[in-house]
Amino acid sequence: MCGIVGYIGKGNALSTIIGGLEALEYRGYDSAGIAYVLNQDIHIIKKQGRIESLKNAIDFSLAPSIGIGHTRWATHGEPSERNAHPHACGKFVIVHNGIIENYQELKKELEEKGYRMVSDTDTEIACALLDYLYQEDKDIIRVLTKVQDKLRGSYAFAILCYDQPDIIYAMRNQSPLIVAVSENDKYIASDVPAILEHTNEYYLLENGDIAMLKQNSLSFYHDGLEISKEKLVFEGSKEASQKDGYPHFMLKEIHEQPKVVHDTIAFYFDGTLESLDKNLPPLDKYRNIHIVACGSAYHAGLVAKTLMEEVAEIPVTCEIASEYRYKNVFYDEKTLVIVISQSGETADTLASLRKAKEDHIDTLAIVNVVGSSIAREADQVLYIKAGCEIAVATTKAYSAQIAILSLLALKLAYIRGKINRQSLLELQQEIETLPDKITELLQRQDYLRIAEKIYQRDDIFYLGRKIDYAISMEGALKLKEISYINSVSYPAGELKHGTISLVEEGTPVIGIITDSLVLEKTISNLKETSARGSHIILITNEPDKNMGDTIVIPKIHPLLQPLLTIIPLQLLAYEIARLRGCDIDKPRNLAKSVTVE
Ligand code: AGP
Ligand code: GLU
Repeated sequence: MCGIVGYIGKGNALSTIIGGLEALEYRGYDSAGIAYVLNQDIHIIKKQGRIESLKNAIDFSLAPSIGIGHTRWATHGEPSERNAHPHACGKFVIVHNGIIENYQELKKELEEKGYRMVSDTDTEIACALLDYLYQEDKDIIRVLTKVQDKLRGSYAFAILCYDQPDIIYAMRNQSPLIVAVSENDKYIASDVPAILEHTNEYYLLENGDIAMLKQNSLSFYHDGLEISKEKLVFEGSKEASQKDGYPHFMLKEIHEQPKVVHDTIAFYFDGTLESLDKNLPPLDKYRNIHIVACGSAYHAGLVAKTLMEEVAEIPVTCEIASEYRYKNVFYDEKTLVIVISQSGETADTLASLRKAKEDHIDTLAIVNVVGSSIAREADQVLYIKAGCEIAVATTKAYSAQIAILSLLALKLAYIRGKINRQSLLELQQEIETLPDKITELLQRQDYLRIAEKIYQRDDIFYLGRKIDYAISMEGALKLKEISYINSVSYPAGELKHGTISLVEEGTPVIGIITDSLVLEKTISNLKETSARGSHIILITNEPDKNMGDTIVIPKIHPLLQPLLTIIPLQLLAYEIARLRGCDIDKPRNLAKSVTVE
């Protein structure tokens, strides 16, 4: 999701809105646009690329007093001027942050009523719905309340209407939106930084709230009735506010995971086979899977390999892209090559994708950034719904990758007769508990307490078997990346084949045990290290296992368990890096997207 800024007041809406959008640039975006009111008419300018391109197309001397602006982080429809916001339909012009989950069914209904869309976005569908309902009822507050009943998904809207060009409407569900006020002016913004140079007084829109901004009045509504809202005052700095008050983007993004996991799964799966058939590619013809990626995306692939082999009983290889692209690969028309990439621009992953395509092998990309090179070049693409990820060390994107890969494993399992419709419904019931379970893990106090014991160590080992080994790889990388500690992951049974020689008094060994089939074996491996003085930290879903410092996490369906197991590992890495005073969001030597080979 990206940036919304609206303005109504005595000043210049163009410069105020552009300045606000620039203050939100840290959120990452691919296009920008503005709509302003002049001589009772609405004018729209929008450009793909940086805000600079938009500024170059604006005549700031016009100095309108009303307008709305947007920086887009594409989720539906690739980055382009055509898909950039604002979107107009009929009597309305809107900008939107979020994802309309039921846009396809709404689009079908509206097209049957004669609407024709000019963009690929879900936002335009919402605008058309607004216009359609307005045809029958000119009370915009009532119409917006009806729109809320029709839309599923997340949205923050700023809205202009040709019939009422001196009013701005705002509405929110899930995606953040504030209304700020100064002596003569009123603002709408996705985030406080956009308005901090003008005021620090604002109202926080809650889900379902509607705001109506006029030159001389401001009113709020909920369920069609006017309500009063508490005015808040932001005390922090501009930089602090860009992180919603979190000390680092990484911590903010770790805490976004309940919503990101929910959004990603809900976009593709609702508990029915039909949703898997409609939203995931056909998988019937494949007899083996190759997963190719780098770094954390590779670790997500290792989790997927274990899940697909265990649940769907299909052979899966998971390879590091910089190796895969040069090796002799054995695949055929029954092979699906899945490439995973948050940025969609990682050079080695892109090269591996091109290698498979040159060999006429089917390819599927799992990507976060819409319209990125890997997304465009793969035969098919599944977008994770992680929103813009700023911290170099990935967290929410990794979890969203795991979520989609679990759904692919689920669909493969069904196709291959390993599970039935009832299993899908039972899994959906567990999926619905995920956000709360993740939230509960985020709120635990164990991580700092444990971090304080081990943050000064030079070496830390992670042990696990099967799925827990795959997850331990990501736990070790997270710690390595942001704390600069030599943290290494080993298959639990492998340590005694050499590496245990490194274990000395106090060496931290982080054991991960969520697969009960290998519980006792891994406990034994941990005891082998504690016999040599290690400091055990155990992360497990087995409540009666206690070794050293133990974090018990909820037990959940195996397809969902990794989404819980990773949380303590992310937060442990974060707390250790913080204690070491590291630059957590921008670790030394690292880039967010490795577009070089
Ligand atoms: C993850 O924390 C790292 N920043 C890095 O390993 C990353 O996962 C890797 O570079 C792959 O990036 P991609 O997902 O954008 O392809
Ligand atoms: N889903 C909308 C789009 O793809 C809004 C994306 C955003 O939040 O920037 O255009």
